[in-house]
Amino acid sequence: MVCLTGATPVLADVRLDTWCIDPAKIEEKITPRTKAIMVVHMYGQPCDMDAILAIANRHNLSVIEDAAQAHGATYKGQVVGGIGDVGVFSFYGNKILTTGEGGMLVTNNERIAERARLLCNQAFEKERFVHNHVGFNYRMTNVQAAIGLAQCEKLAEKLARKREIASNYFALLGDHPDIQLPVAGNDCEPVFWMFGVLLKESFGQSMPKVREKLAAKGIETRAFFVPMHRQPVYQGSNGRWPNLCGEYPVSDVLGERGFYLPSGLDVTRDDQEWIVACLLECKR
Ligand SMILES: Cc1ncc(COP(=O)(O)O)c(C=O)c1O
Repeated sequence: MVCLTGATPVLADVRLDTWCIDPAKIEEKITPRTKAIMVVHMYGQPCDMDAILAIANRHNLSVIEDAAQAHGATYKGQVVGGIGDVGVFSFYGNKILTTGEGGMLVTNNERIAERARLLCNQAFEKERFVHNHVGFNYRMTNVQAAIGLAQCEKLAEKLARKREIASNYFALLGDHPDIQLPVAGNDCEPVFWMFGVLLKESFGQSMPKVREKLAAKGIETRAFFVPMHRQPVYQGSNGRWPNLCGEYPVSDVLGERGFYLPSGLDVTRDDQEWIVACLLECKR
């Protein structure tokens, strides 16, 4: 989406513990052309917002939070998505709150809100069908909105279940020496949209191999996202794609060794015990 606006995304690597953007890697990427810092609360883990806001203030930049996977997660008591200048949420079918498809932008900035309303509604202003800007049809239907509102009523329940699933995995995997579990930043209440694990080298089996063995037992898992700098579409430069300069060693590790375990709301404690037993068996 950043590319589609005509802007150029410049990548910054993530932290190995929280899997979120590493504030120490942001500043070196800032140039006089930089307009905003866009952070993703990955898999429901809040980013280190104080450090990010401090950098943004120093350089007079906006902060956009991608909270697509983090509905209800908090950073120092504040709900993520509501901390920076703009927050975006996804309501796609696999998200914590879903309207099938769709999403939401939140901001306290009137100017940005007005602009977003304009652009999402085909840029109609006072006079319909007269365009002073190029807009989009990003409208949510009333039916979807009604489904979304009903889902909001269940948010607390869903978050409690997600956290229960995570706490079961934490208890079952404990401090296994060969598997890294999600690590929350200071003063963060993550939501564990998906429960990710990272196989350390000492596990002795590749992530695709482990996923294959689990799949053979009927256990569906998903690999972590392919790092942006490895996406085939962005290889080769035509001037519109992300700036891929630099090294992203942590993203590479996550892309090679990270995957998530079944985390749907209906997974039971018994299921989880079996899943973890099968996972540990893969080591052999
Ligand atoms: C972090 C993140 N950002 C953005 C999106 C895109 O959201 P949507 O599919 O609603 O456009 C997703 C997933 O779908 C996501 O996980």
